[in-house]
Amino acid sequence: MKFFIDTANLEEIAEAKSWGCLAGVTTNPSLYAKTGGALADFEPHMQKIAELCKGLPVSAETTATTVDGMVADGRRLAALAPNIVIKLPICEAGLAACRILADGGIRVNMTLIFSATQALLAANAGARYISPFVGRYDDIALDGISQLADVITCIKNYDWSGKNPDGVVEIITASVRTANHVVQAALLGADIATVPMKALKKCLHHPLTDAGIAAFEADWERVANA
Ligand code: E4P
Repeated sequence: MKFFIDTANLEEIAEAKSWGCLAGVTTNPSLYAKTGGALADFEPHMQKIAELCKGLPVSAETTATTVDGMVADGRRLAALAPNIVIKLPICEAGLAACRILADGGIRVNMTLIFSATQALLAANAGARYISPFVGRYDDIALDGISQLADVITCIKNYDWSGKNPDGVVEIITASVRTANHVVQAALLGADIATVPMKALKKCLHHPLTDAGIAAFEADWERVANA
């Protein structure tokens, strides 16, 4: 399973990228709002992320609500850099815009997926990536991982060649809150998990590893000072 980072924060992206295991970035309007950026800076900001992560897919989300608006936003954002993927919400307009963008060779990440039927519709409309949300299900005491399992099984049952610019559909486990979400997604065979920095650090650190590093450092200092 590949790791994406779910943030629009340039420092977090640069740090995760420096680890050498980052495969992509996802953003959304709320994540951009968190950076404190102005509307006029949105596209230059997305361009900076795409430049920082050259060759890796970077999802930029439209905020339009009509098919024409989504297509226009999608074309404009996709023209910013070759690695930009257009994030569209699953809805009637999102599906129609997805088909138009996919037919034009633009990769789409269909977001806000909460059911297997939504995932199947998105894949048939040309989505290159599908983002089922896990944490928001758990937030309302429902089982996000079992919904993810259904999405994975349904999508993996079919061949998507010819349906989108790459002929493959990858599932991005989204709305990840915990390291356990990441493990469960990998056990189910999700292609990707997009993880916020806080949860990425939880995936990375283990108390026994941290204690082991501290002990080696202390012992080596004793050797150096002997
Ligand atoms: C997906 O790409 C979204 O950006 C994201 O995972 C949303 O997660 P949230 O539920 O933590 O807002």
